[in-house]
Amino acid sequence: SGFPSQMRNSLAKLGVPRELLELLFSWVESDEDYPKIPTAKGSIRAVQSEAFFIPLYELFLTYGGIFRLTFGPKSFLIVSDPSITKHILRENSKAYSKGILAEILDFVMGKGLIPADGEIWRVRRRAIVPALHMKYVAAMINLFGQATERLCQKLNAAAFDGEDVEMESLFSRLTLDIIGKAVFNYDFDSLTNDTGIIEAVYTVLREAEDRSVAPIPFWEIPIWKDISPKQKKVSAALKFVNDTLDDLIAICKRMVDEEELQFHEEYMNEQDPSILHFLLASGDDVSSKQLRDDLMTLLIAGHETSAAVLTWTFYLLSKEPRVVAKLQEEVDSILGDRFPTIEDVKKLKYATRVINESLRLYPQPPVLIRRSLENDVLGGYPIKRGEDIFISLWNLHRSPKHWENADKFEPERWPLDGPNPNEVNQNFSYLPFGGGPRKCVGDMFATYETVVALAMLVRRFNFQMALGAPEVNMTTGATIHTTDGLKMTVTRRMKPPIVPVLDTPALEVDKSDGVSEKDP
Ligand code: HEM
Repeated sequence: SGFPSQMRNSLAKLGVPRELLELLFSWVESDEDYPKIPTAKGSIRAVQSEAFFIPLYELFLTYGGIFRLTFGPKSFLIVSDPSITKHILRENSKAYSKGILAEILDFVMGKGLIPADGEIWRVRRRAIVPALHMKYVAAMINLFGQATERLCQKLNAAAFDGEDVEMESLFSRLTLDIIGKAVFNYDFDSLTNDTGIIEAVYTVLREAEDRSVAPIPFWEIPIWKDISPKQKKVSAALKFVNDTLDDLIAICKRMVDEEELQFHEEYMNEQDPSILHFLLASGDDVSSKQLRDDLMTLLIAGHETSAAVLTWTFYLLSKEPRVVAKLQEEVDSILGDRFPTIEDVKKLKYATRVINESLRLYPQPPVLIRRSLENDVLGGYPIKRGEDIFISLWNLHRSPKHWENADKFEPERWPLDGPNPNEVNQNFSYLPFGGGPRKCVGDMFATYETVVALAMLVRRFNFQMALGAPEVNMTTGATIHTTDGLKMTVTRRMKPPIVPVLDTPALEVDKSDGVSEKDP
């Protein structure tokens, strides 16, 4: 074997330590037996100035399903291939951690379920997944309806006054109201109020997003933290949110102590079905930072993602009147003006396909982040421990190799009588909720939430892009945002007079509904 090996042997004989030799020769030697990963050079500016997953799509078309992107001394592996994705997320998931993501989110999520790795993650996943049982999700459907009703009232007033509305911020408030009740039984009521706590939550969220796209971690510079007005504001907001969380935990703990319910698998307090209540009843430690970290994680995970899904769904619908007409026909005949029940939601199959397809075109988040904990082989290329990896859901979901008319919004691509598309039946070409042991714990929750909101809104209103609305462009934080909002004109719909009757509301559990691999 060639020159590098001879060189290495000679150096070893001269007494150069083995560790140093391995470091020196690692990349040279891997060249000998293996093909080298294609490499693209990036400019930091390209990544900063626009939604960074857009240039990655062009590079994917040029370099393929795995390539290395270098910025000066730093490099990332960009993965856009289904089988490599499946390998990282499922087959060899133990060899990967959340890497950079955990570093960025530490200030707000600590060791919460999204950034956590290893044993902490395993223990917390086991504690939290059971809280989202079927009875809980069914109870949430009612909450989704009530929260959407408040949004409808707001839109009604705007329609009456002939005022355009900015839907992105309204969706953000809708999903904040929902997740606050769902996670810790707190009513932000952000659709009608603008209290300090709401501003604090948004300050923290914006900071998390800013950090996730910042080229250098300036917030780690010791003095900066104390003198930067922005960092001071973030610390104050974070303290406010944490204090509020502590109060909510205390209130909930009192309720748990006073109730006579026995804890069991589908345990749920009707007055307070929240995840927090479940966790405390199951014996979670009230005073722990871990509990707070997990609550904060659930709040953020369940808020921005669902809001972004609704925003992009309504954007897509504004360009496809055909889809809207079909959607309204389905909603009219199945739901009418009732608040949806779980039975209704299961029957709203076209509405579900609209959400499935929106998640294909605008995955939230558009990339998943991992770091290799050991050497591995990806797509035939050897990689070292410590590689930072971006799995581009955007590229996977728009790959011309796997999708016909990849860029077209076509809910019909999945037949109504077929299974709900997920990473398993689409073999990792489509994975809006991730896959493997780290798959989203809120997939059912989020699907039902967005279907309920979509159905109730299109039943009552017609939405169009407002005249003179800013062009809709993308920017990224953790999820895909618009650059200048989604300004729409809302008009009340002339509805057909059919109001279907409620049929037997039996709560049968449909285990085939796109859920898989929930437990580690
Ligand atoms: C994880 C998407 C809603 C809680 C994830 C992941 C994705 C995702 C792609 C995997 C991240 C990774 O592998 O790096 C979404 C989307 C949502 C949504 C698109 C809305 C449409 C929710 C909701 C909740 C939630 C409503 C909570 C009620 C979580 C948690 C994790 C997670 C806790 C981390 C799971 C773990 O690492 O074990 N989500 N999510 N998500 N999601 Fe969601």
